[in-house]
Amino acid sequence: MNLESIKSQFPIFQQKTPVGKELVYLDNASTTQKPDCVIDAIADFYKFSNANAGRGVYWPATEVTGRVVDIRQRLAKFIGAARPEEVVFTHGVTDALNKLALAIFGGSQKREGQVLVSGMEHHSNFVPWQMAARHGSLPFKVIPLTDSGAIDMEAYAQLLKEPTSLVAVSAASNVTGIGNDISRLSQMAHNSGALLVVDASQAVAHQPIDVRQWDCDFMVFSGHKAYGPTGIGVLYGTYEVLVELNPLAYGGGMVQEVNESDTTFRMLPHRHEAGTLNLAGIVGLEAAIAFIEKQGIANIQAHENALYELLRKKLNEVSGVAILGRSSSLQCPVVSFTVEGVHPHDMATYLATEGISIRAGHHCAQPLMKHFGITACSRISLACYSSGQEIEQTVDQLKEAIAFFR
Ligand SMILES: Cc1ncc(COP(=O)(O)O)c(C=O)c1O
Repeated sequence: MNLESIKSQFPIFQQKTPVGKELVYLDNASTTQKPDCVIDAIADFYKFSNANAGRGVYWPATEVTGRVVDIRQRLAKFIGAARPEEVVFTHGVTDALNKLALAIFGGSQKREGQVLVSGMEHHSNFVPWQMAARHGSLPFKVIPLTDSGAIDMEAYAQLLKEPTSLVAVSAASNVTGIGNDISRLSQMAHNSGALLVVDASQAVAHQPIDVRQWDCDFMVFSGHKAYGPTGIGVLYGTYEVLVELNPLAYGGGMVQEVNESDTTFRMLPHRHEAGTLNLAGIVGLEAAIAFIEKQGIANIQAHENALYELLRKKLNEVSGVAILGRSSSLQCPVVSFTVEGVHPHDMATYLATEGISIRAGHHCAQPLMKHFGITACSRISLACYSSGQEIEQTVDQLKEAIAFFR
């Protein structure tokens, strides 16, 4: 990994922050920065080949239609899907999970059995299931976590003894970075006859994804957390499950025939893609995947893992800092912590004056905050352009902030 070359591809780093400092961007779990190739792909699409897809028979409509087909194929390969029809474009994880929850539990098909989510879930993979379960009058339960913040597998096995319709878990927590053993969670869910939904928001830019190895029924991710644009995401579902699923939304592009008495729907994947797709987003997402593949996900993972260990070591050396959670299982490069006597928002504000972007708050994971007995924490999250020097600088400034506030 040539860090200098990688960073030079991100225009945001070629300028100073309004306070005249270099930008040290450590909020990648929220969204990553965008390389030139992604920005250019989007601009080129609008400049040179803009038209709607799947409708017109003229150029450039035909070109755009063909590109969407090719990109779907590329994405299927990227996530290990068996068929391109298993890739459904969405506007992102929140959009996908809300639509999925409605499609699974809101239709005429009556589902039986409780709905389980883990205690480490982002609200986007928690509230839609909670509301869907309520709508279907099904029990909604939270899989407990261990003291270190990992899923309590014994408690999970115990919960699965009750009839279960669906289990929703993240591949990795956006707070602790703890990764879950998806294959095992999936096997256990399937043995109980439940569907398994994986929120891969925090995995997609940091580790290889193989939905067939995970053996999940659904997997979602957002492009913007993997160097791609906002407003585009992928919902993967196995062909067998997607073909039976109520459409995610209704409208143009997804119908076979509309009559006053009824409507029939197109085959996969169009059945689930109502309305004009975010075409610029799709093109930008392809460029983002190409960017990741060019660096090599294994190289990115090795680089980020080394930085992650350095970050934990440095933070552990600071008196009063308490890191949230630890697991020996696969993790993504996210470290959250509290600092005795310093509010997370004060810490983030102090660091911002030095050009350092970290996050403070509950990180859309209030059940997890409650598990740790806190209301907020600070979070540092890394990406392929992060460096050891940035970590040293951040921890030095953090020590100064502690001295200042105490
Ligand atoms: C684990 C996790 N799930 C879901 C989301 C929601 O993603 P989006 O805002 O792209 O819909 C996030 C975003 O922070 C996340 O970290």
